[in-house]
Amino acid sequence: MADYTEIIKQIKELKKQKNAIILGHNYMDYGVQLVSDFTGDSYDLAVKALRTNADIIVFAGVYFMAEQAAALNQDKKVLSPDPNAGCSLSDSLDVKTLKEFKEMYPTAPVVLYINTSIYAKALADYIVTSSTAVKIVKNLDSDVILFGPDANLANFVEKKTGKKIIKVPPNGRCLVHASYVRQFVNLARKKYPNALLMAHPESPLEILEAADFVGSTNQMINFAKENPNKEFIVATEIGMINALKIQVPNKEFYPLISTEACACARCPYMAMITLEKIKNSLVNEVTEVKVPKDVAEKAKEAFERTMKLLE
Ligand code: 13P
Ligand code: SF4
Repeated sequence: MADYTEIIKQIKELKKQKNAIILGHNYMDYGVQLVSDFTGDSYDLAVKALRTNADIIVFAGVYFMAEQAAALNQDKKVLSPDPNAGCSLSDSLDVKTLKEFKEMYPTAPVVLYINTSIYAKALADYIVTSSTAVKIVKNLDSDVILFGPDANLANFVEKKTGKKIIKVPPNGRCLVHASYVRQFVNLARKKYPNALLMAHPESPLEILEAADFVGSTNQMINFAKENPNKEFIVATEIGMINALKIQVPNKEFYPLISTEACACARCPYMAMITLEKIKNSLVNEVTEVKVPKDVAEKAKEAFERTMKLLE
């Protein structure tokens, strides 16, 4: 394993000097997770961003996450170590398409997955994550919901709530999870007969139906901690194995598919965030994520409205 000792020491010193924190997504490289003040899923990190007293937040995750943190913290400096770290889901929904769907279904509440641009979020009624989507949609008065951009998560929510889910756009997809096929499950089950299968709801229904547990990345960590089983197959982005190894050290975790077998195992955007870029981000205070005030306010309202429904 790589030796991160020196760079981690330097980053920790910089954090202290600048009253900065690092929020790291569960998919980050091992060293990035070690240097993060908090690691978590999208919901958890958004809440941590809202509650921090730090002057600077370095978001070790993809751009929409840093943008969300900036919208929630207008008085703080939010830095993205690499603003080119995008997301295929976020890229699949543009504001024009969303406005057209809103016109077609004027009475349907707009529920957007957190993996969207802040400009789309500003047009949403609720902003959900993989851990909150089913609960929020169940709690809404309407039986018809405009939901985007992940078509797989939309199918899962439809199945769990029985409500009519209008997908916006019709086929938004995560390039990692949407590549999973049933054959991956058959092979992994054969190789690891004693392991339970945990799957992320961005995966196709045929994977979710074959899983022993479906949940967000944080929910997977909790499931692995609490379940007496010792082995788990993990149907989500392969960086998740780092989070599981750090947080549940006494158990075994196997990726559904390896990076050698399918490039789809690793998210190319998550992989763009490195320790070197985090250090550079702190030294030069780059790249600051700016969200126009009116857009940030609207997105923040939708996020807070969602949090109230979860109380
Ligand atoms: P969660 O960490 O919220 O489960 O989301 C996974 C994801 O794909 C983020 O890009
Ligand atoms: Fe987007 Fe999928 Fe990468 Fe998550 S794993 S950032 S949803 S492309």
